[in-house]
Amino acid sequence: MGNVILIGFMGCGKTTVGLRLSYRLRRTVIDTDKEIEREEKRSISEIFAADGEPYFRDCETACLQKLLDTTSNQIISVGGGLPVREENQRLLHELGQVFYLRAEAETIYERLKDDTTRPLLQGDDPRGKIETLLRERDPYYRAAADVVITVDGKSFDEILREIEETVTE
Ligand code: S3P
Repeated sequence: MGNVILIGFMGCGKTTVGLRLSYRLRRTVIDTDKEIEREEKRSISEIFAADGEPYFRDCETACLQKLLDTTSNQIISVGGGLPVREENQRLLHELGQVFYLRAEAETIYERLKDDTTRPLLQGDDPRGKIETLLRERDPYYRAAADVVITVDGKSFDEILREIEETVTE
């Protein structure tokens, strides 16, 4: 399907990299969270609060299935938990070349410590939550990825250059 797909933990830079890449590659960027919010006519926080995480995860799989029918040669940025589901890993591979933007827990914590929009990081000990979730998810991200890009300490220009050098789709 020729898409460039960005995966990785919350706060790893998928949205910013996706937007900047869209200018450089002259492709549009699609964000699964935004697609789901548009479809559901409510925010991710509202979806989690009213219907719970399993419902949101089903929305993510449905969103990928729809993208498979509608989207080629674009950039797709996906929610941080989406690659955990095995079926989603298969769908991501079908959709295109998958880049894992890999960040250390410390980098993520510094970026997200004041964030209120990620339901999974609210409440006590956000740093501990990030460390635990990242450790759990890293193997799934690697399983879903064609290319791993380490982002810690790099400028967006450096990250973009690395992606552009390895884009084949
Ligand atoms: C989530 C990441 C969020 C969003 C939701 C759940 C996760 O997306 O899908 O809050 O499980 O990691 P971002 O990675 O774009 O923040």
